[in-house]
Amino acid sequence: MSPYHDLYRQSIQDPEGFWKAQAEQISWFSFPETILSKDENDLYRWYRGGKLNTSYLALDYHVENGRGEQPALIYDSPVTNSRRSYTYRQLRDEVALVAGMLRSLGVEKGDRVIIYMPMIPETVFAMLACARIGAIHSVVFGGFAARELAIRIDDAQPKVLLTASGGMEISKIIPYKPLVDQALREAKHPVEKVVVFQRDFVQADMQDGRDLDWMALRETTAPASYVELDATDPLYIIYTSGTTGKPKGVVRDNGGHAVAMKFSMQHIYGIEPGEVYWAASDVGWVVGHSYIVYAPLLHGCTTILFEGKPIKTPDAGTFWRVIEEHGVNVFFTAPTAFRAIVKEDPGAKLKAGRDLSSLRYLFLAGERCDVSTLHWLEEKLGIPVIDHWWQTESGWPMIANMAGVELLPVKPGSAAKPVCGYDCRVVNEKGQELGPNEEGALIIRYPLPPGTLPNLWQDTDRFVGSYLRLFPGYYFSGDGAYRDDDGYIFITGRMDDIINVAGHRLSTAAMEEVIAAHPAVAECAVIGVDDQMKGQIPLGFVVLKDGFDLTEEALEQELIQMVRKEVGPVAAFKRAIVVKRLPKTRSGKILRKIMRAIADDKPFNFPSTIEDATVLPEIEQVMKKVAR
Ligand code: COA
Ligand code: AMP
Repeated sequence: MSPYHDLYRQSIQDPEGFWKAQAEQISWFSFPETILSKDENDLYRWYRGGKLNTSYLALDYHVENGRGEQPALIYDSPVTNSRRSYTYRQLRDEVALVAGMLRSLGVEKGDRVIIYMPMIPETVFAMLACARIGAIHSVVFGGFAARELAIRIDDAQPKVLLTASGGMEISKIIPYKPLVDQALREAKHPVEKVVVFQRDFVQADMQDGRDLDWMALRETTAPASYVELDATDPLYIIYTSGTTGKPKGVVRDNGGHAVAMKFSMQHIYGIEPGEVYWAASDVGWVVGHSYIVYAPLLHGCTTILFEGKPIKTPDAGTFWRVIEEHGVNVFFTAPTAFRAIVKEDPGAKLKAGRDLSSLRYLFLAGERCDVSTLHWLEEKLGIPVIDHWWQTESGWPMIANMAGVELLPVKPGSAAKPVCGYDCRVVNEKGQELGPNEEGALIIRYPLPPGTLPNLWQDTDRFVGSYLRLFPGYYFSGDGAYRDDDGYIFITGRMDDIINVAGHRLSTAAMEEVIAAHPAVAECAVIGVDDQMKGQIPLGFVVLKDGFDLTEEALEQELIQMVRKEVGPVAAFKRAIVVKRLPKTRSGKILRKIMRAIADDKPFNFPSTIEDATVLPEIEQVMKKVAR
């Protein structure tokens, strides 16, 4: 049996033995008493009784073991034309100071801290500082609007919010503080203190009594050491789009996470401690949590924090520059980033003269890697280009080519094979396993391995309802897939109303909520349609109320602005089309699945429950118009 198949088989046949051995790879204060057990909600938990601290493992442990002078974090910011590098010792000291700052504000173990910050080192300090004192961080992506931040504030109920005066999007200054102020006005939960990191290019207005200056606070703070935490204590909450307007608060615990992060670096990404790992994503997304901050540091690597875009900062050669300049060994980003590069520099002229010999693997995720981008990359780089599949919920890859164990042949369009610990099945709606090349729902045997979500933040019912109820004994991923004759899995896309825009996961329901609030709109539907660069973009269909004196163009502009203001620019909502009716079932449910099938030019079955099939030609006409 090949090394991958052998290791995978062990992980499925004896999960407890397998994950006990992996747990031995990290330095616990007390080794777990049980490897797998159930909690009071009848949900599985890994490593109960284990004591550790994630910030200790990511920083102090390395300083104690000879990595103190190795670069831990390299901040490379083409948008502000700056670079900074922190050794493990320096990073530990910075983190300890921010931990002290939080302590001085009364933040204790179990308190929540919201981090709404751009891609600067202080954001990384803040995350690790929370981990150090056992506070639970929740990082909110900067491209979300005030309302989305307010929703997260009300759900997480943080004691403190950490922010910066602004971000830089290519050359556009995005002031963050007005958004924070607006969110705090909208939220019901009162946040006691807001700490603001002032950046040179934009100054934030401060509110007396509530807002504090980050650097001033740092000056007067004593560093805080790490505390001993239970393996099952939450490390962070990350909100992700669900099928309703309310995002899901995915919880990550300390023990399972640390073990899974370390395991994945070695066995999936095939990288050694001391090497350089770069995930070009944003700390606001799960990729940023796992592979900019935690995994590289837990594994003793140097991680790159890149504040820029694949293009225009200053050009489509910026990725090649970073790889060469910092000697990146393993690189991870979303295919959309490379589609943007291919569009600007199809011949990769900007790569000429760059020494990329350090680079061993390129990993891609966030969306399916289209075959032409894959081939372009393989040809230009001459190294394995590895598509791998995972979700915010899992926190680390579920289907991948486990390069650190055995590099399997790459099959274009496939994320390869299940990762150790993930017993993946493709089933029909009755839960019956399908044969090769038959498309169905992708489900994974429960319990999922360590590091995956143990629950949603204070919402066990939603956790069970969203993931465990549909296929008893299995986790429902929400994605469709098929397996080929060689056992390679091909992801065919979401089966629900979640869309993926430029690698960003968004809820169409959240956009519909905003659009439906417009006084002229009787009803609406938002679906994702194909886009050459972003993978998908949202497209709104609206039915007007009678008697509104507004041109379709004016309405579209108003709706675009509303979605931008309420959900955020990251939604990239740019088109809303007026139609007379929407396809619905007799009970009034909008048939978005059929609309999506029409948009993607895919065959679909007429549901017997459709209210009136004569509505479909109008939708088809609209799609043709949009395609033009
Ligand atoms: N703060 C504030 N605004 C932000 C933001 C942030 N952190 N991130 C994005 N935005 C804004 C952008 O300024 C843009 O606003 P605009 O409509 O005023 O131009 C909008 O949100 C959309 O941004 P983006 O999705 O980045 O699209 P783009 O057209 O500017 O760039 C790509 C396209 C492909 C270059 C870019 O999306 C990209 O680099 N994607 C990689 C995605 C990724 O890393 N995903 C993580 C999973 S691995
Ligand atoms: P997120 O939670 O933001 O990471 O988004 C997860 C979703 O993105 C998955 O459910 C998939 O729909 C999609 N996705 C992520 N990676 C891939 C991939 N490699 N291939 C296909 N779809 C992917």
